[in-house]
Amino acid sequence: GGHGRTARDLDGRRIVISAGGTREPIDPVRFIGNRSSGRQGVALAEAAKQRGADVLLVAANLEIEVPAGIESFTVTTTAQLREAMLERAASADVVIMAAAVADYRPEDVSDTKMKKEADGGPVTLRLVQNPDILTELGHADRRARVLVGFAAETTSDEAELIRLAAEKRERKGCDLIAVNRVDGGRGFGAADNEVRLIDANGPLGAAVAGSKSDVAHAILDAARDLLRGRD
Ligand code: CTP
Ligand code: CA
Repeated sequence: GGHGRTARDLDGRRIVISAGGTREPIDPVRFIGNRSSGRQGVALAEAAKQRGADVLLVAANLEIEVPAGIESFTVTTTAQLREAMLERAASADVVIMAAAVADYRPEDVSDTKMKKEADGGPVTLRLVQNPDILTELGHADRRARVLVGFAAETTSDEAELIRLAAEKRERKGCDLIAVNRVDGGRGFGAADNEVRLIDANGPLGAAVAGSKSDVAHAILDAARDLLRGRD
């Protein structure tokens, strides 16, 4: 019970956590990215390690350093993140997709730096949709024993927030989803976070508000309980 801050309740469990945000190249000097700092994913890795887990952090363009003692693998694009996650998920007890994955990438990547239009006119960038890594993990044979996703939503209505996240969990085939509101400077880059956890039976208790470490421990509590149910 509790937040297990001193418990070694994840002893020997293999946990793979993606963190940060993927970037999609436009040309050799430009990319499309997002504002994910990687702080929540790093907090999850640190918390899991404290609790005895064997942790791999798959790090996509983190704004912060990977803490000493945390094993990590660095990726940049969604394609690289996908490959790393599909490969590592097979042997993991818990997989957590905390990374903000670019939904789209440029259809064509220019080998040379794109030049401005001489006439001052606009340019059009054609984007194609990226594969959904969480959905692949949730539906393939290689699925981790416990799969955790995140949902970033901008709605301010609590019931709507829960409904959107519950639908997302079901659609993506993950066991648990942590939903946070990203409006008004919340979430991205912030030191604190507020999430609701939702599993197949609906919301697990009230919202967890606190540091990213508090949120990480609450997510790990829920993942531990799901794992125990499957032992
Ligand atoms: N995710 C993923 N692959 C993608 C997009 C998202 O694995 N191509 C994962 C994220 O890591 C997160 C979860 O899916 O754990 C939800 O991401 P989110 O952006 O909220 O959901 P989307 O399905 O992309 O829906 P939308 O952005 O339209 O709300
Ligand atoms: Ca998305």
